[in-house]
Parts: sequence; structure tokens; C-alpha cells
Amino acid sequence: MHSVASAPNKIILFGEHAVVYKKPAIAVAINKRAKVSIKNTKKDSTIIKCNDIGLHANINPKTYNIEFLEGKKGILNYILEVLKSHHDNSPIKIDISLEVPLGIGLGSSAAITVALIAALHNYHEKVIDKSSLSKKAHEIELKVQGAASPLDTAVSTYGGMIYLKDSNIEYIKPNIEGSFIVAYTPKPADTKKMVSLVKKKLEKYPNIVGNIIDTIGNVTKTAYELIKEGKFEKIGELMNINHGLLDSIGVSSSELSQMVYSARNAGALGSKITGAGGSGSIIAYCINNEDKVLNTLKSQWDAFKTKFSKDGVIIH
Ligand code: MEV
Repeated sequence: MHSVASAPNKIILFGEHAVVYKKPAIAVAINKRAKVSIKNTKKDSTIIKCNDIGLHANINPKTYNIEFLEGKKGILNYILEVLKSHHDNSPIKIDISLEVPLGIGLGSSAAITVALIAALHNYHEKVIDKSSLSKKAHEIELKVQGAASPLDTAVSTYGGMIYLKDSNIEYIKPNIEGSFIVAYTPKPADTKKMVSLVKKKLEKYPNIVGNIIDTIGNVTKTAYELIKEGKFEKIGELMNINHGLLDSIGVSSSELSQMVYSARNAGALGSKITGAGGSGSIIAYCINNEDKVLNTLKSQWDAFKTKFSKDGVIIH
């Protein structure tokens, strides 16, 4: 038996950090995916490989003990939790491929978790609907991370655009034109640290930072209306406002802001950090000038071009 499934990575377009305080957020799926392939094996161990990150692990299929490990353990925690809840104790071979680096804030752990749960159901000839899949994947993220919003796993399951408001998830599939250029620092973002930094600022200046968080919420709502009306060229300006607000609460850095301004100077319609900030990734939205923006960013940082995608999880 050979079962293959893939799920998309995501970018947060608007509302990071403010979402922690129940403000709305917008995340979109991109055309970069995590792919999981499962085969039966005659070996005694379950073998897990992801060549893109140099991971090779052999697991005891009954006890889930790690018998051999090459590479970093991080993503293995998600895989083991999925196996415990969605597989029997037969040894299998799991191959994972990634189209974006792990840990740059584009939701690879959620994409792998969603694709693995889907591939395992298919392997066992079981059907899982998207609503259950999204919930199960979120449960895995909660178990491994302790805290997680349902945003990443929902985007990886459904694809398209997710508007998260008051814990309600709304799915829409607009035809977002143009490209998103992603640039990232060598050091990944530390979500826990940045979330706690914002919390401290809010405690210190409740009226000021509280108002900034409210304003980020209003920016997100306005962007949502513009996207629904198909006025994509207008979201760039809102991305710039969102970045300024994030900068004002201390989650940008001189390097991230340099990336953001380089992208704008090269012709991006808008640019901002995406995700937790401090370090990590920025996104630049381009309808024209995409190659100029990409090359400008690439001359100093790691960067790539990506597009909005309506595709969610797929069984191949
Ligand atoms: C991190 O990708 C996004 C944050 O808003 C944290 C969260 O929503 O859990 C900073």
C-alpha cells in the first residue's frame, strides 16, 4: 500500500499578535506544500525521513521509542503524536518533502500534521472530512506546543483564505492576484518570546498598546472587506499600516524593517512582517515588479516568490 497526501503552507496576511487578544486575523494558503508519503515496510521499525531537513529516525512502532535519530527532533514530536492517535502498531515508512524551510513561520508543522493525518486515513482506507481533519490536526498542535490558534491547521486543511474572528473560522476562496515574496532571516522567529514581549508592553501601557491592538483589528477587518470586494491593489497600503503598528509594539527588528523597506522601494504594493516577528519572515505583496522585488531581497537575504493558492489538503 502506498498513500500520499499534501497540504499547503500559509502566510499570515493581517492580524498576528492582535489575534492573541481575540482580534481578527487573515491567513492565506500558498502554492508551497508539505508532502507525506506512506508505504508499508518489512522492517521492524517505523522509518521517518525528511531529506530536506536531514531528518532520519527509526521508531519502535509499539512503544514509539526513538531507536535511531539523525537531524533535529523538532518535527518528530508532531509525527509521533499523529501516529499515536491515527495509526495502529504496524511498522511503516514515512517520507516527507518540504518546499519551504522549516521554522520560518509559514506553518510547516501544521502542513505536515494535516498531510500525515490525511495520508494515514487513506492508508487505512478510511475517510475523514475536512472539518474533523482540521480539528484533529489542531489537537496535535495543542498537544505538542501547549498553545496554538486553529489558524494554521485550518488553512492547511481548507486552502484559500481563512478569516478568524471571535474563534469562528470563515473560509473564502478569493482570486487573489499577484505574488507574495517571502524573505527570511537565518534565525527563526521565537513565537513564545514575542507573544510574551507584547503582553508585557500591554501591561505597561494598557491604554496605548490596547489601542494599537484594537487598531490592528480594524486594519484586518478593512482588509477583509477589500479582499471580499476583489480590491487587492488596495491591501498593500493596509499591510504597510499593519507593519507600522507591529513595529510600534516592538515585534519588528532593524533587519526585518530593512527587508520591508527594501521591498517597498523595489516596487512592492505593501510589505510587513508575517508571524511572530523579532526575526523570521517578511512578506511583500506585488502585482507588478515581482522579479525586481524578489531580486532586491535576494541580493541580501534568503527569499522566494510564492502565490496564493485555493488548494487545501490533497490525496494524490
Ligand atoms: C505567530 O505565527 C502568530 C502570533 O499571532 C501568535 C499566535 O497567533 O499564536 C504571533
